[in-house]
This record gives sequence, C-alpha cells and structure tokens, in this order.
Amino acid sequence: MAEHIVGMKRTDYCAELGEADIGKNCTLMGWCHKSRDLGGLTFITLRDRTGEIQLVVSPESNQEVRSKASRIRSEYVLACSGKISRRSAPNAAMKTGQIEVIVDEIRILSESQTPPFYIEEGVDANEALRLKYRYLDLRRPDMQRNLMLRHRIAKCARDYFDNNGFVEIETPMLGKSTPEGARDYLVPSRVKNGSFFALPQSPQLYKQLLMVSGYDRYMQITKCFRDEDLRADRQPEFTQIDLEMSFVDSDDVMSVTEGFLAEVFDKIMGRPIQLPIPRLTYQEAMDRFGSDKPDIRFGLELNNISQIVSDIAFPPFETTLSSGGSIRAICVPGGASLSRREVDAFAEVAKTYRAGGLAWLVASEPARGSFLKFLSPDQIDRIKNSMNATAEDLILIVSGDNQTVYDALGAVRCAVAEKMNLIPESMFAPLWVTEFPLLEYDGEEDRFVAKHHPFTSPMPEDMAMLEKDPAAVRSNAYDIVLNGTELGGGSIRIHDQALQEKMFMLLGFTKEQANAQFGFLLDAFKYGVPPHGGLAFGLDRMVMLLAGTKSIRDVIAFPKVQNSSCLMTEAPAPVADKQLEELGISVKELSDEE
Ligand code: AMO
Repeated sequence: MAEHIVGMKRTDYCAELGEADIGKNCTLMGWCHKSRDLGGLTFITLRDRTGEIQLVVSPESNQEVRSKASRIRSEYVLACSGKISRRSAPNAAMKTGQIEVIVDEIRILSESQTPPFYIEEGVDANEALRLKYRYLDLRRPDMQRNLMLRHRIAKCARDYFDNNGFVEIETPMLGKSTPEGARDYLVPSRVKNGSFFALPQSPQLYKQLLMVSGYDRYMQITKCFRDEDLRADRQPEFTQIDLEMSFVDSDDVMSVTEGFLAEVFDKIMGRPIQLPIPRLTYQEAMDRFGSDKPDIRFGLELNNISQIVSDIAFPPFETTLSSGGSIRAICVPGGASLSRREVDAFAEVAKTYRAGGLAWLVASEPARGSFLKFLSPDQIDRIKNSMNATAEDLILIVSGDNQTVYDALGAVRCAVAEKMNLIPESMFAPLWVTEFPLLEYDGEEDRFVAKHHPFTSPMPEDMAMLEKDPAAVRSNAYDIVLNGTELGGGSIRIHDQALQEKMFMLLGFTKEQANAQFGFLLDAFKYGVPPHGGLAFGLDRMVMLLAGTKSIRDVIAFPKVQNSSCLMTEAPAPVADKQLEELGISVKELSDEE
C-alpha cells in the first residue's frame, strides 16, 4: 500500500545539492530512476525535475529501510531522509556525482508498473508509443528541459513587452471565423441550433479592434486553431506571441520585435545576436534563395542563367524561354565528386516540387553533364564563368515557370547543403523578409486571395496599381525568419474603411458578403481608427529552434499527430446521442470516396 508523507517535508531538490552540502541532512522526494542491489548494499538513483542523485542503503541501515529498499523498482515514487556524504567513487557523468545520500528513512509513496519505454535522456522509443504514454515521456530530462525553456521564453516575452508598454488582453476562443488561410475548427451552438462559433485562427480582428478602443500596445500569448495539413512545424492548435501597436510604421514594429528576439537570445540562450536583423525583400529572397523563408546560414545562391543559355538548343530550356519562364542554377563547391546516385537524389527533390527535371554539368576536362550533347565548349565555358565555377564544382540547373524554378531549386539548395554538411548547425541567422505581394492568384477558385490576410495594407507607393494591376501590388508586410523557418509574420493594417471595403471586393466578396462576415470591423472603422500594425510569433516554432529539436511536437506538452488526433486521450471521439440532439446535429456516415 502507498505510504503518505505526513511528518516528512522536502528540504531540497535532488540536483541542487553539491559538495558544499556534505555533512547536512536532507529530505528528498522523486522517482526511482534505477535501483541496484549489491547484496545488502542498495544504490538507488533518485530523480526529480532538477536531475538525479544517488541514495545508499547499507547493511548498517535499519531493518525496515533495508527491506523497503529491496522492494523498490524503477519509477516508484519515494520520499527519503539521510545524510549527504562524499562518494568514494565519484561519477563525473552526473551533476551530483561527487556526493550521495546515506538513507536513514525511506517511504514508498507510489509503486509503478514497468514503463513501456526507458525514462531517460534521448530515448529511442517509437514516437507513437511516447505520445500514447506522454505523461511518462514528459518525465524524460530532455522533454523537461524543453518545457522549462518554453516557460522561460514565455516569461521573457511577458516581461519584455510589459517593460515596453504593452498590455496583455485576452480575446475570445468562441468567436467568428477570421480568415488566415486555413479551415476553421467549428463549435456548434446549443442555444442557436445550426449556428457555429469558429475557434480563432488568430486574434487578428480582436487585436485591431483593441487599437480602435485606444489600448495603444497589446500583447497576448494565446492559442490559435487551424485545421490544415500537419508538418513538423505545424500543429492544429499552436501558440502565438501576438502583438499590435497604434500610431506606428513597419520600422517601429520591426524594431520592438527585434528587441524581443535579442533579449531572448541574450538572456535565455546567452548568445547575443547582432541588431538590426538583416532585411531582404520578398523578390530578393526568391531570386537569391528560391524561398520566402530562406536559410541564410550557407551560400549556394541561385543564379538566373536564362540569358547565358538562351542560344542552347536544349528543348526544356527553349520551351521555358518561349513561355516566359526562367532557367536558374546553383554551383555546388566540390560537388564534382558526388556520385550519379547522389545527383539523381537531388533530381527527385526537384521533381517533388513539380520541376520537369534537374540538369547538371561538371565543367572539367572533359566536361560531364546531363545535356552535354546540346553544348559547345564555348557554351560550357560561358555557364562555368557566369557562376565562377571550377572543374571541381557541380552546376545544378532547373528550368520552368518562375514559381516552379524557385520552389524546386530552393529545395534542392537545402538538400545539397544538408548532404554536403554546409549548414553550421549551432548558428542562428535571423532575417526579415519584406514587401511580399499583397495578393496571389488562386487558380482553383479563379480569384485573388490575400497572401497574408485581407487586413494587410498595400505599400503606399503601390496603391495606385490596386485596380489596374493587383498582382503587382506589394504589401506592407514583414516576416521574421530563423534558419529557414518562418518564426513570425505581421503587417501594417488597413485603417481606412473605404480601402478595407475595396480590398474585400478585390478578394471576390460582394458588399453583402463582406458585411455579413466583417460588418463589425467595417462599422468600427467608422468611429476613429488609429493607424496600426503588429506581428505574431509562433511560440512553438521559436522554442523548437532554440531547443535544437526538429519537430514542434517536442516542445508541446500534449501535441496532436499527423491526422490531428491525440494518441493519449484518443480525441477526437464520438459523443453521446443526447449531446448531438441538444445541438440539433445528426451525423452523416461518410463513405470512403466522399
Ligand atoms: P501567421 O498566419 O503568419 O500570422 O501566423 C504567425 C506565426 O504563427 C506560427 N504558425 C504556426 N505554428 C504552428 N502551427 C501552425 N499551424 C502555425 N500557423 C502559424 C508561425 C507564423 O509565422 N494574425 C497574423 C499575424 C499578424 O498579422 O499580426 C497571423 O496569424 O510561426
């Protein structure tokens, strides 16, 4: 039976003790990490959230302590008291490896079955098993470190923004849909059958309304919900550090944001970053790196060689140039030594991004390449010289419409960097990307959609093109990118009612539709609106990058898996018929084809 702790009071955490404490008595509580019985002498490693310490039960200990110690197994919960002593055989791998506790009282507070996987650093268990038993997985030191780091970053955010005049204000979870580009999670109303709340994809409209209300500087650490395909850096519910400021331009928002990032890097990571953070326009980012969230820790920049190869009778190049596309290349230093198989693997990457193929060339003597029979020695030299390539380098080329070339070669660039070990893993390289296109054309819907969201202001100098050439209009938006991941994004907003209405029309809304969905915003804009702008960071992504993990699941206590379900609670799950009846909902069986 489980014992109680009455009469025992914890004096210390395990790994906060050290050599300075030798000779003192202590009372510790935690989990048995492992227990070794060496015939009368029992060593128990006790673990709490600070780390581990060794407990010793010796033949001199009293009979009760010895008999309890012999029963203790891994993951039993213990309370123990004893004297802190110097270890005769120190363990350099352990923070408390110089000391041990000679136990004179021990209680078994809770027993444990054998866990389904070892509770230890860097455990190699299958992720599905870890997520099913997440409460055990979260006992592991690396997971505990991740969640503590998350806590410290959230605390740093609250302190920094408080010091800079921001007020934390909560906004509703049960609201009306805000378009951020994903599907909404809907919550049916019991009181108004047939009507639904939408869980917020972000607090975008509420924070803008708080600016109309005069709060001037708002921040909130808040959950957002988006029903979209999951990836390593996407969860259906995730957390934003969300900001909005009045009477500002984009430089003001960017400089407050940079100040926060600098504080996180300095205070939490002990790794100051250089301010100001470099900026690239969207077009520069695409032209140089083939991505609007480029990893700038390595080179391998894209070169537009359309002109250089315009006289080469290689059919894919000819088709591309006659249809207004482009031909771009990267030069891989030392890449001539890669095998055909390795180059083919890069071609597969290009194809997953819809490229027709990946042409390659090594300008050695003699030259090698995938389209050599179309090239004269002079043309080979021209390509080589345009990229300052040597005979040891590999030139990789993609042709096609611009977007395909950017996507495919941008992805090949990253795959090459990984393969050739060109990424300095411990480096942090933040970057602003600015001047995004305001709109993008959605072929399926046959209309423009907002690249950020419909409340983003166009660049003032592009305003005149809104009607004539909407695709060419740039937005007053900015993303903050870290090591190839979009960490946050924001913009200066439209604060003029007429312009906001015009924007809705451009996005294909009728006046009635705009009013039905956003009437409250358009109404608010009749009552004195300060110019305003803001930004939201993805907290999960920030913690993931700073913790050095590859998935945001590692920094979220209870994450969802690929199909947006929770393996531990088995949510989502069917509900009782009565609950559905109250909501006026009947569930239709969907066939596989639907
Ligand atoms: P945006 O949609 O760019 O902007 O989101 C801001 C940041 O939130 C993070 N993020 C996600 N993190 C994990 N899982 C997801 N599914 C997910 N989706 C987004 C990213 C992203 O940069 N209201 C605007 C902000 C503004 O304009 O102020 C917004 O939500 O790190």
